[in-house]
Amino acid sequence: MEILQIPNTEVPANLALAAIALEYATWPVKPPSQKTEAEQIETYRNRSKGRQAFFAMEEKLLGYAEIFPRVIHTQSGSIKIMGLGSVCVSMESRGTGIGRKLVEACFRAVDTSSTEVCLFQTGVPDFYAKLNCKPVENTFVNRTDPEDPDKNPFWDDHIMIYPADYSWPSGIIDLNGKGY
Ligand SMILES: CC(C)(COP(=O)(O)OP(=O)(O)OC[C@H]1O[C@@H](n2cnc3c(N)ncnc32)[C@H](O)[C@@H]1OP(=O)(O)O)[C@@H](O)C(=O)NCCC(=O)NCCS
Repeated sequence: MEILQIPNTEVPANLALAAIALEYATWPVKPPSQKTEAEQIETYRNRSKGRQAFFAMEEKLLGYAEIFPRVIHTQSGSIKIMGLGSVCVSMESRGTGIGRKLVEACFRAVDTSSTEVCLFQTGVPDFYAKLNCKPVENTFVNRTDPEDPDKNPFWDDHIMIYPADYSWPSGIIDLNGKGY
């Protein structure tokens, strides 16, 4: 098994479609098939500026994750964070260490970037606790949402950061965009 890291803008079409299919199998919300393949690939490659995709590959795609920079506003000033999202391993490959290797690759990329901390939501905090992450308890808002700027933009029960020893600020945090 190898982990490939590719900027989203440069992901080959077949890999982009495999990633979209694995995401949809994991979180069956909006069927990607409502768009043509070309439209799906275009949307995928333009998800957000500076986004990096991670592919766990054997003969086919077994796992997938993404990281992306974002500036957030805290009560101690604005900071650049790295978001983490779309972490998923195919049903039949779970429990074999692929998720750990994928997320470790994402965190190595954070460590070598100009961004000191990764922020994400999750429903599986115990998985991330083993990977040097810790929960944070701030109130999160999204001031860019004109309809409900005080609404929590996250939907999972747990918000966590990596690395666990990062000096994370207290107080309300403006995620400065949609949840992920
Ligand atoms: C969560 C997920 C990515 C884990 O991937 P995986 O390849 O099965 O996990 P690994 O085999 O690498 O497990 C690494 C360690 O985490 C533990 N672990 C795995 N899934 C866990 C879970 N759901 N809760 C708690 N611990 C978990 C494993 O027991 C293992 O521990 P060990 O090293 O002490 O043996 C995978 O189950 C998945 O795709 N789930 C559905 C989507 C999802 O919830 N993604 C996370 C979004 S934030």
